[in-house]
Amino acid sequence: MPIKLTLPEDQKLIAYILVRFIEGELTGIAEGQALMHAPTLEAADFLARQVREEIRHARMYAALYRYAEPEAKLPRSPWLLRKILAPLPGRLWYEHCFLDKAVGERWVLLLMEYLIEHTADRRICQTLAAIAKDERQHVAFGESATRDFSARSWFHRHYLWGLYLRFELALALVYPLLRRRVCRLSKKGELLLSDFFERSRNKLHHEIAELLGVAPRRSWFWLVAAQLVLWLRLPFAGWWRSPQSDLCRRTHAARI
Ligand SMILES: [Fe+2]
Ligand SMILES: [Fe+2]
Repeated sequence: MPIKLTLPEDQKLIAYILVRFIEGELTGIAEGQALMHAPTLEAADFLARQVREEIRHARMYAALYRYAEPEAKLPRSPWLLRKILAPLPGRLWYEHCFLDKAVGERWVLLLMEYLIEHTADRRICQTLAAIAKDERQHVAFGESATRDFSARSWFHRHYLWGLYLRFELALALVYPLLRRRVCRLSKKGELLLSDFFERSRNKLHHEIAELLGVAPRRSWFWLVAAQLVLWLRLPFAGWWRSPQSDLCRRTHAARI
């Protein structure tokens, strides 16, 4: 029989998870910065809709938080966590679509699905399921842009794979911190967290390798090389950049 979170027994843990979700949604609003770099009006339209959805999600989570812990006020999120969760603003369009949507939102979606499976409260499960429906579309958008980019060459595919390996490393670093915090809240939470990490890290690893069309091998070489390329933003001419890096600079309305 699977472990299930219930109210009021797991109130503290559920409230803690909801606060992390609210933080995630608020950083999702920063996706608005990517609007300036959307390559087409369709992409800009999608981002505008996504920002509205993330705001709605933040409100839905806040309402759930008040439901789970009516007496408490929403705590402020720690600075370090905000930095870790901050999205790539979209100056590099494909990196943004890959890291923030195809990987980051996919990870959050896996967590939501896991929680739906392991929570006995109907209202929490229904809200998570409603939000997950939107998140699937955000992930699908990121995956589609990622496929376009990785189809360009062997190097493009491995560059994104290197960026993914960095995400995996960040997860591995964050995990013990999260585990210590969750341990203090509940034993049940600790068991669920380690089960989720073990299952989902593996699943995501293989899904991303499949999306990019690369072998699912961990490689320090690609991790470091991708970081260098990202940091230095090597001048790889037009084939490297988005088809149009700044929608606002477009002057030919017919092409839009
Ligand atoms: Fe969201
Ligand atoms: Fe989202």
